[in-house]
Amino acid sequence: MISLFAMGESDVQSQLPCEVSEQAKLDDVKTELENVRVEKQQLRDEVASLKERLAQKEADLQNVQNKADKLSQSPLFVGTVQDITDRGAIVKQHGTNQESLTELTDDLREKLEPNDRVCINNNLSVVDRLPSETDARARMMETTESPDVGYSDIGGVEDQVKEVRETLELPMTEPELFDSVGVNPPSGVLLHGPPGTGKTMMAKAVANKTDATFIKMAGSELVHKFIGEGPKMVRDIFEMARDNQPAVLFIDEIDAIASRRTDSKTSGDAEVQRTMMQLLSEMDGFDERGDVRIIAATNRYDMLDDAILRPGRFDRIIEVPTPDLEGRKEIFNIHTRDMNVDSAVDLDGLAEDLCDVSGAEIEAICMEAGMFAIRDRRDTVTQDDFDSAIDKITDDESDEEYVSEVATTAFA
Ligand SMILES: Nc1ncnc2c1ncn2[C@@H]1O[C@H](COP(=O)(O)OP(=O)(O)OP(=O)(O)O)[C@@H](O)[C@H]1O
Ligand SMILES: [Mg+2]
Repeated sequence: MISLFAMGESDVQSQLPCEVSEQAKLDDVKTELENVRVEKQQLRDEVASLKERLAQKEADLQNVQNKADKLSQSPLFVGTVQDITDRGAIVKQHGTNQESLTELTDDLREKLEPNDRVCINNNLSVVDRLPSETDARARMMETTESPDVGYSDIGGVEDQVKEVRETLELPMTEPELFDSVGVNPPSGVLLHGPPGTGKTMMAKAVANKTDATFIKMAGSELVHKFIGEGPKMVRDIFEMARDNQPAVLFIDEIDAIASRRTDSKTSGDAEVQRTMMQLLSEMDGFDERGDVRIIAATNRYDMLDDAILRPGRFDRIIEVPTPDLEGRKEIFNIHTRDMNVDSAVDLDGLAEDLCDVSGAEIEAICMEAGMFAIRDRRDTVTQDDFDSAIDKITDDESDEEYVSEVATTAFA
């Protein structure tokens, strides 16, 4: 008995070799099974992720394919429908101004009207009608955000600002005043004066102050960028203004389209004249014009055509001159407002010394003075900086005069 008790467990196992190896085998198989399961799961995961990648790649391929298809299509031209006849539509292609008579499918015939913009293919057949009524480029001219300029940023032109505000702001903010007195509100103002005196700034300030839509067009752009389409652009811009009334329409560099008519017969001049005629007729459209105020600016008043200047077109013609002494002082203060200027600097003295400079030149002088300080790594701007800046800016100008003199003699 004792001897039996004395036997350890290992002794028992060693006595059952067959059972032991069975157990070990079972364990081995279990581990193996577990390993295979894990591996299977891993493979499944891998398959899933490969499937995902495949789908992604297929989508990419489709994209590239689509792009390639799109790029290999020949481009469509844009044109305007002139007329719809029994035999088809007469379409004028933009740019070339080539007119063509083209067949129409039945549903297009129902959809199209004269003056619609359409796209046409290489065979000059109409493919589709373009959606917008107004030219898409006209819409790009719309300024939705108000410009960041206030009346307090404009110095030395109080009277002019007052007149602009009366003409443009009052009809929008208090239209009942005009109703009760029984006069039509003024339709627009024309600002003229030397370059850099704050004309564009005034237009921006009006837009900022009124909640009106601000639409800007530059005369030079109409003439140079949209050759052949000037009149249509003018019509579209006015139409867009009417659709978005109240609106302020700012025509900068109006001299580019409203210069005195000449006898010159070049096609470019004829185009400019057609654009101007369109402008005049839009400005005359009093009743249909709605709540649209016009503000135009030029620094070539002497070149403007009499037709644009006659009463009824612009009710106020306002001259914006180069600033007088008080004005120069104010403009210096405006542009040094945020600058760290040494207390010894005599800004009023500078304004007194500089006669016949524009607001833009004063701004340039202040900026240049700041640059001199920055170059020396100083954080205050001194009188010397201002003196050097004035030398630099006025020197540049005499250089320019010299250059233009040389140029004129060279080409004379
Ligand atoms: N009266 C002014 N008060 C303050 N700053 C001015 C004034 N006039 C011009 N400036 C400065 O000059 C810059 C140019 O002015 P703006 O664009 O209004 O000139 P403009 O009269 O429209 O000139 P252009 O006839 O050449 O178009 C402005 O950004 C402003 O910093
Ligand atoms: Mg301007």
